[in-house]
Amino acid sequence: MYDAATTALIAALPHPVLLVDMAGGVVKANPPATELFGARIAGAQIRAHLRQPEVAGMLDRVLGGVPEGSASFVSSSGSRETVWHVIARHVGDGTVVLSLGDVSDIEAAEAQRRDFVANVSHELRSPLTVLSGFIETLQGPAGDDPGARAEFLGIMADQAERMTGLVSDLLSLSRVESAEKIRPRTPVSIDMVLKATLAALRPQIEAAQLSISYQVPDDIADVPGDYDQLVQVFHNLIENALKYGFSGGRIEVAAQQMPAMPGFEGAVLRVSVRDFGEGIDPVHIPRLTERFYRVDKARSRDSGGTGLGLAIVKHILSRHRGRLVIRSAQGEGTIFDAVLPCGPPQN
Ligand SMILES: Nc1ncnc2c1ncn2[C@@H]1O[C@H](COP(=O)(O)OP(=O)(O)OP(=O)(O)O)[C@@H](O)[C@H]1O
Ligand SMILES: [Mg+2]
Repeated sequence: MYDAATTALIAALPHPVLLVDMAGGVVKANPPATELFGARIAGAQIRAHLRQPEVAGMLDRVLGGVPEGSASFVSSSGSRETVWHVIARHVGDGTVVLSLGDVSDIEAAEAQRRDFVANVSHELRSPLTVLSGFIETLQGPAGDDPGARAEFLGIMADQAERMTGLVSDLLSLSRVESAEKIRPRTPVSIDMVLKATLAALRPQIEAAQLSISYQVPDDIADVPGDYDQLVQVFHNLIENALKYGFSGGRIEVAAQQMPAMPGFEGAVLRVSVRDFGEGIDPVHIPRLTERFYRVDKARSRDSGGTGLGLAIVKHILSRHRGRLVIRSAQGEGTIFDAVLPCGPPQN
């Protein structure tokens, strides 16, 4: 059973595999198993290495005669945790084969999905609670008071708008995600995208009394892109600068063509949206593009934000084979750079 062919066979498998006798002694371990448990695993007692209760219980049952079993455990090396799924099976001849699979990515995706559902439900529940509360109030005596009725209907309309905004953000996120592999090819003028975006945001810009500096060269190259999605990108970046960086009094929108940039083949456009507001604490920066991530939840929610904007931006840029770079200094403001390849699409 433990001949050269068996050794060669388990050595060829990419994941950790161990052969164990009925007393739990490790007879053979392939290189990934040695890497996981250490060089002295061969000849050792498997129970000494797999002591987590769920796995230990499963091993006892299988070594006690149950033909097969499976269990999971977590190993950590440094700061990285790996979730392993172990399958133990009798192969006859008094040998049990233990095969380990790294299921960390599956577990992480599952956790992300659960978080996502929890977040969506939470975000929808608050406006719904407000709506039901006011419906009840209006069904009571307050319904006969025209002043109160007008005020409550105004609040209800705001909440309904919030929910509509959330649902449309969710839909656009899922549309962008499902089309992410297909790179858009139509030549798009960034100058037109930025001008259309600024025109749409004109009322907010005026209300915030901000001055805008606009620096886009006339002869700037087109990018292969999706016009509407690029408008969405800069709408969110400029709107964020307005909502969170207005204290600086001005915003700069600039685009520049660069012959090369690390990580890109060929020329790129760097489109920057810069504000001179409070800036963002560096601890938050890597997480800003996560769905529903907001630095100051209450404040962002008051301004109607759901924290999906930058997640959508990131996906749209990645569909364009581009990248988002965030630089910020507290008290000085923030620069969001959207980097877009401008050569003809190859992939
Ligand atoms: N220019 C900025 N200055 C300071 N903080 C910012 C800036 N842009 C974004 N942020 C922070 O990043 C968070 C995430 O931004 P994002 O655009 O994803 O969400 P949002 O604006 O809150 O909601 P939505 O875009 O869905 O309406 C914001 O809530 C805010 O806390
Ligand atoms: Mg936003």
